[in-house]
Amino acid sequence: MAEKVGFVGLGIMGKPMARNLIEAGHDLVLYNRTREKAEDLAGDKAIVAASPREVAEQSDVIITMLPDSPQVEEVLTGPDGVLEGVREGALIVDMSTISPVVTKGLAAKAEEKGASMLDAPVSGGDVGAIDGTLSIMVGGSEEDFERAGPLFEAMGKTITHVGGSGTGQVVKAANQIVVALTIEAVSEALVLGSKAGVEPGKILDVLGGGLAGNKVIEAKREKMLGHSFDPGFRIELHHKDLGIALAAGREYGVALPVTAVVDQMLETLKAKGRGDRDHSALLTLIEDSSGHEIGNGGS
Ligand SMILES: NC(=O)c1ccc[n+]([C@@H]2O[C@H](COP(=O)([O-])OP(=O)(O)OC[C@H]3O[C@@H](n4cnc5c(N)ncnc54)[C@H](OP(=O)(O)O)[C@@H]3O)[C@@H](O)[C@H]2O)c1
Repeated sequence: MAEKVGFVGLGIMGKPMARNLIEAGHDLVLYNRTREKAEDLAGDKAIVAASPREVAEQSDVIITMLPDSPQVEEVLTGPDGVLEGVREGALIVDMSTISPVVTKGLAAKAEEKGASMLDAPVSGGDVGAIDGTLSIMVGGSEEDFERAGPLFEAMGKTITHVGGSGTGQVVKAANQIVVALTIEAVSEALVLGSKAGVEPGKILDVLGGGLAGNKVIEAKREKMLGHSFDPGFRIELHHKDLGIALAAGREYGVALPVTAVVDQMLETLKAKGRGDRDHSALLTLIEDSSGHEIGNGGS
């Protein structure tokens, strides 16, 4: 019999991911702090529960998609949380981006209840969530990875088992380092070229065709050239992710010098009131520092 799937956290990412599971034919039990977002998806294949505990009581697999470690801890271990209602043999799949250290602690707590846990953070943004083309990096046992396979296939395209508990989160931190540093490099290139008199679109055309080519140039082109920074992926979330990466660096004794600089740049953008903007708005910090906004010939 098909497994009943609980889904907690129906935000920018969670809602389209849950919708793709429903469309793939799975039966869902939904919970969202703001109930209306869960009710939007309710129907023949999806019912709404009143708490994470109720979700767990009715589900074989429970997926969480929440902002950060404290929220995942609260939803799993808090009063009326998942672990209060979890069934023996159930599988928890946390798809949020959180600390690998917190993940391992939560997996141990799930085990004490006779359940198990995968960390399965994603990349691909809101578009990947809507299209069901997310890249999913999974830490945990091979057996649990196989069990969750049909669910991952409904939500993603590149699905990789990277190792034991916590390793999915480590790979996600690595991913977030590369994305942040690439956005920063593209921003510097754009402001330098533009202030020196080159049309910004031409800079990206040229960079995109050589060794400097990267997906940030493709995916963020319109936002950066048009200064349209509606998220997308918010600066405050990317700042959270670099915090996770830096903490992991400290834990494992790895130097991440440039990640630390870009982390501070994101902190500055938050202080400037731009934390809710798309992470490509890192461009605006280089512009502020250079007294030049690309594209308008400003000084
Ligand atoms: N957005 C992206 O492009 C993207 C890409 C890859 C990975 N991610 C990661 O995916 C995760 C979710 O991101 P998102 O963009 O979907 O965030 P979001 O839109 O802010 O959604 C967060 C969800 O968590 C719920 N929530 C927040 N605090 C809660 C609490 N204390 N108890 C219960 N529920 C709570 C929110 O409920 P309400 O509806 O009540 O606010 C909402 O459903 C994050 O870890 C993020 O880093 C995001």
